[in-house]
Amino acid sequence: MTLGVAVIGAGMAGRAHAAAYRVAPTLYASTLPPLRYVSVGDLDPGMGALAARRFGYERSDTDWRAIAEDPSVDVVSVVVANALHREMVEGLVAAGKHVLCEKPLSDSLEDARAMADLARAAGSVARVGFTFRRAPGVAMLRRLVTDGTIGDVLHVDVRYYCDYAADPRGPISWRFKGAPGTGALADLGSHAAYLAEFVAGDIAEVSGGRFTTAITERPVPLGVVQRGADVAVSDEREAVENDDYASFSVRLASGVGVVEVSRVAAGHPNGLVVEVYGDRGAATWELERPGELSLVLNDDPPAIRGFRRVVLGPDAPYVRGGLAMDAQGVGLGQNQGFEYQARAFLEEVAGIDEAASLPRCASFDEGVHNLEVLASVADSAARGGAGVAVPAQRTS
Ligand SMILES: NC(=O)c1ccc[n+]([C@@H]2O[C@H](COP(=O)([O-])OP(=O)(O)OC[C@H]3O[C@@H](n4cnc5c(N)ncnc54)[C@H](O)[C@@H]3O)[C@@H](O)[C@H]2O)c1
Repeated sequence: MTLGVAVIGAGMAGRAHAAAYRVAPTLYASTLPPLRYVSVGDLDPGMGALAARRFGYERSDTDWRAIAEDPSVDVVSVVVANALHREMVEGLVAAGKHVLCEKPLSDSLEDARAMADLARAAGSVARVGFTFRRAPGVAMLRRLVTDGTIGDVLHVDVRYYCDYAADPRGPISWRFKGAPGTGALADLGSHAAYLAEFVAGDIAEVSGGRFTTAITERPVPLGVVQRGADVAVSDEREAVENDDYASFSVRLASGVGVVEVSRVAAGHPNGLVVEVYGDRGAATWELERPGELSLVLNDDPPAIRGFRRVVLGPDAPYVRGGLAMDAQGVGLGQNQGFEYQARAFLEEVAGIDEAASLPRCASFDEGVHNLEVLASVADSAARGGAGVAVPAQRTS
């Protein structure tokens, strides 16, 4: 069996998927079937061709349907604007493709629910990419909670500060269009809410929802906008429709917490921070120092009790036998999250037993739950911060 791979979207995250499929077979033992790198799709022919050449894919396509219709393609990542996810996923699943869709599952709860209904009935694998669960430090925080090291969770704090929209001269793009909650909350809060639950348990209620739009209009670009890339802009301006900043409180099965996200936080290119406090200690991790975490245990001798720096090594999740150099202190990074994710997805598609695989990627039902949390935040914000119950995760 050879698996044909394609990626739709050659933007910032699309390139990470395209690269990750190249690396995935080199992680751990050689249990994956051979891969054939078929196509990188992008509406912009130049961007698609550039990425296909760079990452060694046979061709690029400007219409995603060419990928859906190609019988040599088995596995497709959907890595485009959130509002485009549903149409592409539906077309790909109908064509029998295995689909890895980027987060958030969609730009609307209604579309996400329809996608999850489809996925449950599909004969192919449909998964959603919450990459940060693959960061060894994040997976360690979860382990320190589940194995009782830091005790019962008292509170969790997830902050995701980015500066990609901090400059008012930056162009308008799909990220700035849509209802309140489709801005920073969907882009960064989807990760943050997922991580709060991944580390500390399910969110039962949100409250204190708050959105602000700090920069209310932006210049219209003169070329293709991709996150992280420069583009010339015109004198024309368009309104920013959604949130630059969002915050909310959560009530968990055990404990409470706060989530705060911003795309206008100057000086924080990628400032994701996860902190979890238990009744036996606490642990924190930040993306700007992803190869380490901080840990304090209440039972430490009082004279030296305090946060200690733990440099992650082979005994952290994902590291041993995965990285080519799997020693302590080699340094870890966000791109590796996409690589582990691609590996996990391909293992499932190839039918490799779950026990012999990396943890499976999140299901579309989990993607729906994530959007239910975000919709509850929007509801809370619209009602002056009122408490809003979050539906329990679907288990079947
Ligand atoms: N997991 C992560 O860490 C992570 C990081 C960034 C983005 N994302 C997600 O990835 C998705 C894409 O984000 P991005 O930052 O790469 O966006 P981006 O704006 O950088 O790139 C989007 C690309 O899609 C292309 N495109 C637009 N319409 C298309 C169409 N109809 N067919 C094919 N291509 C089309 C554009 O030309 C552009 O190259 C979003 O869902 C986002 O939430 C995830």
